[in-house]
Amino acid sequence: MRVAVSETTALRRCVTVVDAEPVALDVLVRAAKLFHFDCQTASSPEEAIMLLECSPTPVVVTDLRMPGLGGVWLVQEIRRRWPHIAVIVVTAGCDEIALVQCMSAGVQHYFLKPIHIDEFHHALQATWYSQLMRRESQRQKQHLESVVTQQSDRLRHTFFSAITSLARTLEARDSYTSGHSLRVRKYALRLATEIGLDDISKKRLSLAAKLHDIGKVGLAEGILNKPTRLSDFEFQLVREHPVIGERILRPIIRNRVVLGAIRNHHERFDGRGYPDGLRGEKIPFLARLITVADCYDALTSSRAYRAALPREEALGILEAGMNTQFDPHLVPPFVRMIRASKVRKRKAAAVLV
Ligand SMILES: [Fe+2]
Ligand SMILES: [Fe+2]
Repeated sequence: MRVAVSETTALRRCVTVVDAEPVALDVLVRAAKLFHFDCQTASSPEEAIMLLECSPTPVVVTDLRMPGLGGVWLVQEIRRRWPHIAVIVVTAGCDEIALVQCMSAGVQHYFLKPIHIDEFHHALQATWYSQLMRRESQRQKQHLESVVTQQSDRLRHTFFSAITSLARTLEARDSYTSGHSLRVRKYALRLATEIGLDDISKKRLSLAAKLHDIGKVGLAEGILNKPTRLSDFEFQLVREHPVIGERILRPIIRNRVVLGAIRNHHERFDGRGYPDGLRGEKIPFLARLITVADCYDALTSSRAYRAALPREEALGILEAGMNTQFDPHLVPPFVRMIRASKVRKRKAAAVLV
């Protein structure tokens, strides 16, 4: 059998030989070296384990009849600790129980002493090549897994890019909501920082906030830009966008936290929101957070049916909606954050003057 150089160099051509009888140990070592194997030796099972801990070899050749814990124990211990190491048993006398125990532990070959050199050579070579094949198939499996992971990442990236441009296109249809998602994401992330949210949650929040209104993609332009009050039917269509958004994203976003934040960003703290009518802390936390940022941006942006509200008036509406529309724990830090940024901007302007 021909094996590529790269494969052979990946695996040490080395064997651990274990035998309590010095003469038998010497015979096995000389036989292994004759076939160009490097050898390390042990005269007891315990010594063999210590040796393998420091320097594991792909193949172990061992006697069964040894003082101490014995050869069967050694075989089982090797199987338990290093299942990839192949074991060849060479022993004097036929102990059927030991034979069964060794075979059930997964021993590759079993020989009776005295060994026949050709038989031993064949067993050693065959075991060595099976180890090489195992290593190679493991390497190929790892390579395939990494290729699949890379491809999946690339696909996900492409999909997210497509979804993000879809969201931009959606907002571009309506001059009043242009940039809404990005502003909601900015406000939501600032609020998250203000309340000390962890980084993983912030990452999920960023994604959910950016895509929270993606479900509006199917809404007619006339509804999005309507300067007058929506009819009940039109309002019903608009109310479906969180569910549609979740449905669009479910095949590629497997994270339930992100999907929940998108689905439930129009719930109200008093349970009178949609689509599920969730109440209080039953509403996913990130959804409650997006709700505050979403409403603030809607209030401070111009709409087809009204002008943008001044900042303080919008903050007043948020404060008035604590416990009814909004989570009462999120409004105060949000208001604090917006007012602080206003003060910072004023100071920066004063420095410029
Ligand atoms: Fe929405
Ligand atoms: Fe929104």
